[in-house]
Amino acid sequence: MKNKMKIATISLTGIAVASFLIFGSNALAGGNQKEKQSSKPWPCPERYVKMVNPIKPDEGILAAGKEVWENNCKSCHGRTGKGDGPKVKNLDFSPIDFSTDEYQSKTDGELFWRATEGRKPMPHNKDKISDIERWSVILYTRTFAKKAGEPEVPNQKEK
Ligand code: HEC
Repeated sequence: MKNKMKIATISLTGIAVASFLIFGSNALAGGNQKEKQSSKPWPCPERYVKMVNPIKPDEGILAAGKEVWENNCKSCHGRTGKGDGPKVKNLDFSPIDFSTDEYQSKTDGELFWRATEGRKPMPHNKDKISDIERWSVILYTRTFAKKAGEPEVPNQKEK
């Protein structure tokens, strides 16, 4: 009798584990990324498109950018900018994957302007984050770019 119950418990656990593997892990692994992205064009003023980033991506700047990212952006955009942060499941659409050419081909100025202004549901960051921090976080998002043979988060490798 005892043994039978044990077997029943084990097989129930087995079913739970199996269904987690089938359904649950899917939700964890990128299940937050929504298919839908905003189709509304988001034109950036020309003077921002042409604006040159006043800072260079040295170690200190990237470290500062990473901190801004983790405190203010990661919750939606995800740790590596894939658009799979935990908050995205509550939004109507998700931001684009920052590792793609679609993102990376934009100028720093254009991305800086968007990061500054935001657009619902993305909050604006005019008061909360300084100009330098916003330029730094844009430089940090450049580290998300796909590069052949590089680890997933290139800037986390040993210096
Ligand atoms: C509440 C969720 C949320 C947070 C927090 C957030 N974003 Fe966004 N972000 C979005 C969404 C959604 C979009 C897409 C908006 C659209 O296309 O209308 C977006 C778009 C962007 C874009 C434009 C990308 C493009 O396609 O050109 C940039 C740049 C950006 N975010 C940077 C940031 C930075 C930097 C931070 C932190 C300082 C941040 N975001 C915080 C949700 C968020």
